[in-house]
Amino acid sequence: MGTKRQFRVWRGDDTGGQLEDFQVEVNEGEVVLDIIHRLQATQAPDLAVRWNCKAGKCGSCSMEINGKPRLGCMTRMSTFEETEVVTVTPVRTFPVIRDLVTDVSFNYQKARELPAFAPPVGVAPGEYRMQQIDVERSQEFRKCIECFLCQNVCHVVRDHEENKPAFSGPRFFIRAAELDMHPLDARDDRKEQAQKAQGLGYCNITKCCTEVCPEHIKITDNAIIPMKERVVDRRFDPIVRLGRKIFRR
Ligand code: SF4
Ligand code: F3S
Ligand code: FES
Repeated sequence: MGTKRQFRVWRGDDTGGQLEDFQVEVNEGEVVLDIIHRLQATQAPDLAVRWNCKAGKCGSCSMEINGKPRLGCMTRMSTFEETEVVTVTPVRTFPVIRDLVTDVSFNYQKARELPAFAPPVGVAPGEYRMQQIDVERSQEFRKCIECFLCQNVCHVVRDHEENKPAFSGPRFFIRAAELDMHPLDARDDRKEQAQKAQGLGYCNITKCCTEVCPEHIKITDNAIIPMKERVVDRRFDPIVRLGRKIFRR
């Protein structure tokens, strides 16, 4: 038999909403998503929540729990004091559809804007050869589950809707870095692209994105900072500039 705990959930839609209080049973080993499912089963059958795998791998159950962006299925109730009220709200950076479900299409739009992997002409799939060291460099970025918690927490867009058109966000900086490190990607302008089209310059390295990543990807240190450094290198390094001029002729 579990204990009764205080739970507070935001209910509403794009026209507005409010926090609702619930008393709900919590059992040992349960996670926040279990409690939301219990609420649906017992007290709030129409409570909307997005989830899929319940194993921290699909990236669907992003929400804010006591104000922190987290995955509902990976946040154990034992994280909180027994007397603590657990407050669950939708992620703040994206528009609410209903209750805990938000419209994350901003991210899909940014994904479409990023030029795709460009293998050299004439190399067919299956003919790619990569050194293990090159595989390892970008392996970390491939762990992304697209939960968009990093996108949600980044202050550049979290409180500034007006920055959204110009800023792709940390999830897409790691994608750009991954392609930049790919030995078979034929584009040599990934860094310039990140600066000009993705708004890399808006990032002032607050590292909030890295702190919330459930896959522990070192977004700032391993992707953003190297991309920024090399953008600076290329623009200001006289040898690189001379080389580019010669080869452009
Ligand atoms: Fe989520 Fe991390 Fe991917 Fe960002 S980089 S979308 S926080 S898994
Ligand atoms: Fe935003 Fe991460 Fe940069 S939180 S400001 S993208 S370091
Ligand atoms: Fe898939 Fe939480 S339900 S990550």
